Amino acid sequence: MCGIVGYIGKRQAYPILIKGLHRLEYRGYDSAGVALIDSKGQLNVYKAKGKVSELEAVARLKDTDGNIGIAHTRWATHGEPSTRNAHPHCSGSGNLAIIHNGIIENYEPLKQMLLQRGYTFRSDTDTEVLIQLIEYTRTSGQLSLAQAVREALKQVKGAYAIAIVERGNSDTIIAARKGSPLVVGIGTDETFLASDATPIVEFTQDIIYLSDEQVAVLEQGKKPVITNLNGQEKEYKIKKVSLSLDQLEKGEYSHYMLKEIFEQPDTLRRTLDSCTDPTTRALTLQDYYAHRSRFAKAERIIMLACGTSWHAALIAKYAIEQYARIPCEVEYASEFRYRNPVISSKDIVIAISQSGETADTLAAMELAGKQGAFLFSICNVKGSSIPRISDACCYTNVGPEIGVASTKAFTAQLLTLTLLAFAIGKERRTIDEVQFNELMAAAAELPSKVETVLLQNDRIRRFAANYHFPADCLYIGRGYNFPIALEGALKLKEISYIHAEGYPAAEMKHGPIALISEQMPVVAIATRCDIYEKIVSNIEEIKARKGQVLSIVTEGDTQVSDMSEFSVEVPDIIECLSPILSVVPLQLLAYHVAVAKGCDVDQPRNLAKSVTVE
Ligand code: G6P
Repeated sequence: MCGIVGYIGKRQAYPILIKGLHRLEYRGYDSAGVALIDSKGQLNVYKAKGKVSELEAVARLKDTDGNIGIAHTRWATHGEPSTRNAHPHCSGSGNLAIIHNGIIENYEPLKQMLLQRGYTFRSDTDTEVLIQLIEYTRTSGQLSLAQAVREALKQVKGAYAIAIVERGNSDTIIAARKGSPLVVGIGTDETFLASDATPIVEFTQDIIYLSDEQVAVLEQGKKPVITNLNGQEKEYKIKKVSLSLDQLEKGEYSHYMLKEIFEQPDTLRRTLDSCTDPTTRALTLQDYYAHRSRFAKAERIIMLACGTSWHAALIAKYAIEQYARIPCEVEYASEFRYRNPVISSKDIVIAISQSGETADTLAAMELAGKQGAFLFSICNVKGSSIPRISDACCYTNVGPEIGVASTKAFTAQLLTLTLLAFAIGKERRTIDEVQFNELMAAAAELPSKVETVLLQNDRIRRFAANYHFPADCLYIGRGYNFPIALEGALKLKEISYIHAEGYPAAEMKHGPIALISEQMPVVAIATRCDIYEKIVSNIEEIKARKGQVLSIVTEGDTQVSDMSEFSVEVPDIIECLSPILSVVPLQLLAYHVAVAKGCDVDQPRNLAKSVTVE
């Protein structure tokens, strides 16, 4: 949520900052802005409501000279999306400009204190309060800018990743973080700053991940100096990131989401590889292996996640309970963190997160960690906050996921979690060697089976272009595929704005069946499973009430497909792996419906990919 980028060096900052903002636009696109210091020390600030392209239009005829600058793309929290509320925000004197990702929770009392001292405000944002507080702290205490930033941040409650530049100072950017991500990139005679490494990799692979309550002073031609809020210098490690530029581009695809759907055979192969020892081919799951006896002895597993990652956790509960026979609980991180959960040191908490930065998941883990649980995470973004606070982590390694609607990260999470269930089951001897080998052989076939599903893309596209989706739609499934009903519905609503809900098929009778009419499409996930006949009965009940059925079935099925307006076949596979196949047509369906409706697929309204505020 909100993307930050900064540059200080010998090149023109503006083009680097704009390119960086485009790469970070997945974090928010309500407004964009830039602050540049030119060679004479003049501070130029340009902003626009809407996407980065709007900012470019505003800045086109303006002076964008300068070797130092900061830029921001916003996901609105305090104050509506508008140019007035767009970052950067300036202090009252106009000397300081700040960009901010996060929320200053105690902004109201701070604002009252500043109002009493004669400060005025031009925006509705918490961020403007912070820059005024920094200016007040600096003038009243006669402090240097870095000292003032540190002192002001001590008074702040909430989360922040910030960068500040100063009129008349073309040598310095001050940056700091707590709760929201911020990385520093070290180039030759130049330094970069960004919410994540994606805007930086084009220029350098050397990255410093700032920790909470660290303040970085970036000066022209010097190494960064990093301190805590008391000004004590902190040592830092420079890490190499291995991201390639084509991973960040759309290539031949019209949207990132479509590219990411089509990458799934490859990403699943990568997930299989990274969970397996390259020489022995044993299932190691990265850090899991070193802690396998702890998993084997666990009395309970608690999974914490949000959004699509939460759906992955729901499916993993089926697999872990079936194969590893450990009781499993799945929690919305946002709920878990604010109740008083019972946790013990015998519990293993598994956090699932694509970004590794979701504020609620992070806070829920911290809570569980304080109460003694072992913290394991399944994450995609290397070096992000969730793996950093975990005792152990297994990365999904699918490369950057840029489309706001999660696709390839989800299937990789599912595969990783299912492999984890097999590995724990083997360790606990709740499955035998023969069964384990059969399960692993089935998993190895997944990538090519997903390829087969993708061959139906054109059929799904043609159907979506011609079928009139009304305002509402239901998704139903059972067993392992009940959470796929939730995920299919989420995909449709988040990118096409059609209201869709997922239900366990048998629950229809307890209410939702009242909604069924000729106008209500029901997407049924009816692949072959232990209770196939039961879901067939549920579909019959919908047909009897004249509902329109769209279905996902197993290759060769005629019973359900004959009852359906439209049906997509997926290859047969053991039930625990079937969600990885059945979700793919639902991703494609949501994508093509959204395209047919003219929606902005990669940047749906009101959403952001990385939810770093609660
Ligand atoms: C946002 C994204 C979803 C994602 C959720 C959790 O809502 O739009 O795609 O599933 O956050 O994110 P995480 O990075 O923790 O998986």
